[in-house]
Amino acid sequence: MPAASDRDPSTGIDPLSSETRTFPPSSDFVEHAVARPWLYEEAARDRLAFWRARAEVLSWATPFTEVLDWSEAPFAKWFADGELNAAYNAVDRHVEAGHGDQVALLAEYEDGSDASYTYAQVKDEISRLANVLTDLGVSTGDRVAIYMPMIPEAVFAMLACARIGAPHSVVFGGFSADALRSRIEDAEAKAVITADGQFRRGRALPLKPAVDEALATGAPSVQKVLVVRRTGGDVAWTEGRDVWWHEARESASTEHQPVPVPAEHPLFILYTSGTTGKPKGIVHSTGGYLTQAAYTHRVVFDLKPAADVYWCTADVGWITGHSYVVYGPMVNRTTQVIYEGTPDTPHQGRWWEIIEKYGVTQFYSSPTAIRTAMKWGEDIPGKYDLSSLRLLGSVGESINPEAWMWYRRVIGGDRCPIVDTWWQTETGAIMISPLPGITSTKPGSAQVPLPGISAEVLNDTGEPVGDGEGGYLALTEPWPSMLRGIWGDPQRYRDTYWSRFPGRYFAGDGARKDEDGDIWLLGRVDDVMNVSGHRLSTTEIESALVSHEWVAEAAVVGASDETTGQAVVAFVILRSGTEQAVEEAGGEEGAIEVLRQHVGREIGPIAKPKRILLVTELPKTRSGKIMRRLLRDVAENREVGDTQTLADSSVMDLIQQGMTGRR
Ligand code: WT7
Repeated sequence: MPAASDRDPSTGIDPLSSETRTFPPSSDFVEHAVARPWLYEEAARDRLAFWRARAEVLSWATPFTEVLDWSEAPFAKWFADGELNAAYNAVDRHVEAGHGDQVALLAEYEDGSDASYTYAQVKDEISRLANVLTDLGVSTGDRVAIYMPMIPEAVFAMLACARIGAPHSVVFGGFSADALRSRIEDAEAKAVITADGQFRRGRALPLKPAVDEALATGAPSVQKVLVVRRTGGDVAWTEGRDVWWHEARESASTEHQPVPVPAEHPLFILYTSGTTGKPKGIVHSTGGYLTQAAYTHRVVFDLKPAADVYWCTADVGWITGHSYVVYGPMVNRTTQVIYEGTPDTPHQGRWWEIIEKYGVTQFYSSPTAIRTAMKWGEDIPGKYDLSSLRLLGSVGESINPEAWMWYRRVIGGDRCPIVDTWWQTETGAIMISPLPGITSTKPGSAQVPLPGISAEVLNDTGEPVGDGEGGYLALTEPWPSMLRGIWGDPQRYRDTYWSRFPGRYFAGDGARKDEDGDIWLLGRVDDVMNVSGHRLSTTEIESALVSHEWVAEAAVVGASDETTGQAVVAFVILRSGTEQAVEEAGGEEGAIEVLRQHVGREIGPIAKPKRILLVTELPKTRSGKIMRRLLRDVAENREVGDTQTLADSSVMDLIQQGMTGRR
C-alpha cells in the first residue's frame, strides 16, 4: 500500500470523505454531451478500431493498414506502415483547406507588447526555418536541442524540426548549462537553437552563455548554434558555429516540402527525472503521439476551431507545452495565447488581464498556480472580466479540493467545468480526466480513463483493487502516444515501467478508487518529487549536493508545501575539515546558501532546496539504504514513525536534537 492513511500528506485529499461533493455536467456543453458519450462505447466495443478512427483524422502521406503491433512488447508500434509529417498536420493542411488567415498564435510578451501569427504566416516561418536548418547540415533523423524562452520562435523551432523529421529535444530555459550539456550529449544533438536571452520579471536574463558554457565543456556533436535575437544584449560569438536566426531567415525561401516520415519515426525526445541521478530521454513517435495529442485536446477541452481562444500556461520545456501548446492545439487548428512572462510581472493580475484582453475561452494551468493566486487574494482576479471563460483545466499534481473550489468559483464564475487531467511525460497525452458536459466532476479527483485508455489500480500482488480501495496506478493496455522507450537505454525502459507488474505499465503513482470507482491520485510512490508540478529526482539533487567539496553525504526528501505541493528539503552531512570554509562563508546560514546556489548551478533554479538542514548522521537501514520516510517526518514536523529497521535507532534523536538546537 502506497499511503498509510486515506488522506494523502502532500495533497490533503481524503478521497472518501463526506465533504466530497459532485458537480453535475454543465448544460453549456450540450453539443459535447450529444457528440461524445458514444466514444466510451465505441472504445469499449473495439479499442483498436476506435484508435484507427482517431488516427484517420490526421492527414497521412501514406495511409497505414495496421493499427497496433504489440508483438515486441513493451516496445509498441502504432500505425507503423503509414507515413506522415507532424508540421504538415499542424499547419500546412489548415492553410490548404482555406484557413490560412486564422490566427494560430497570439503572443503576449512580458512587457505588454504583443504579436500575432496566422496559420499562413506560421507556415512561412517554419518553411524558412526548415530551409535554414537544412542549409546548416541538419537532416532527417539528426537531433536538435532547443533552449528557448516562451516566444513564438520556440514553437517555430519545434515545428521546423518536425518538418524535416529531425527529432527535437527541448531543454527548459530554466535548466543550467550542466543540465543542458548532459542532455545534448545523451542525444548527440547536431545543432542547438537558442536565444540571446529572455525577459523574466522585468529583467533581461542571458540564455546563450549557458549554451556557450555547455559546448565549451563537452557536447562535441554540436556543429551549429542558431540564435534568436530577443533581448538585444551583448553575446559572445563563435564564428563558423553561431548563426543569427534573423540573418539566416532573411535569405531563406518560404517554399519547403515537409518530409513524410514513418509513423514510428521519433518526433522528439524529452528528458525527465527518474529515480536515479541520470535523467531519462523519453522518446515519442510521430503518428501515435500526434493521434492522441490531437484527440485528447479536442475532447477534453471541447475545442472549437476558429471560435475558441485557448490558453495553456505551460512552457514548451515540459511535456504539457509539447502536447497542449504545440502539437494537440495546432493539429486541431486552435487559436491560442502564448505568454512569455511570469504571472506576477508587472502585477499579480497579469494572467487574468491576459484572459480579459484576448477573451480566452479555455484555460489550462496547474494547482501550484491556482494556490498562488489564492494566496494573493480573490480581489485581484475580481478586477478583470473573466466571463469569456467556459472551461478550466488542471495538470501536474492532484488539485486539493479547496483550490479546486476556489478555481471554479473565482476564476470560473461557478459556471465552468474543471477538467483535472492526469498524465505524464511518458504517456504523451492525457489519460485520466472528466469530459466536460458528460462527467459529473468531483473536486480533487481525476476520475475516469478517457475512452480508449485502460487504467487499473493494483494491489501489491498486481490484482485490481475494488471500489473504495487503494494501490498502484497501472496502465493495462498500450496506447498510441505511449513513450517508445528511453533514448539509448532499452533495459532501463523495461526495468522502470514494466517490471513491477509484468505486462502492465506502472506509472509510479499511488491511487485510490472511491465508492463510484472514480480515481483519486495520491502522489508518487518512488523517489520522485513533484514541486510546482515539475518532476524532480531526489537522487539527482543528492548527487548535485555531494558534488560540492564540502559535502560528505546528502539525503533529499519532498516535504508537503502549501503552495508548491512538495518542497525540496535536504539533510546534509559536511565533511570534517570544512569548518574553516564554513566560517568564511558566514557560518551555517552562509554555507547553506552556498549549497543552495550550487544545486541551482548544477541542475537549475527549480531544484534549489527550500531548506537545507546540516546534520551529523542520516537514518539508514542495516543494508545502508537511507530511510527517507523518517526524514520526511522531520521535515514535515511530524512525530517520527517506526524506527525499528534503523541500523542505529538513536540517529533520529540526534537529528531532531540538532534541529531544535539550531532553529
Ligand atoms: C507526474 C508526471 C503531465 C504533465 C505534467 C507533469 C503527477 C500529473 C496529475 C494530476 C495528480 C498528477 C503524477 C505523474 N501528475 N498530473 N492531474 N493529478 N497527479 O508531467 O513531469 O511527467 O510528471 O505528475 O505524479 O506521475 P511529469
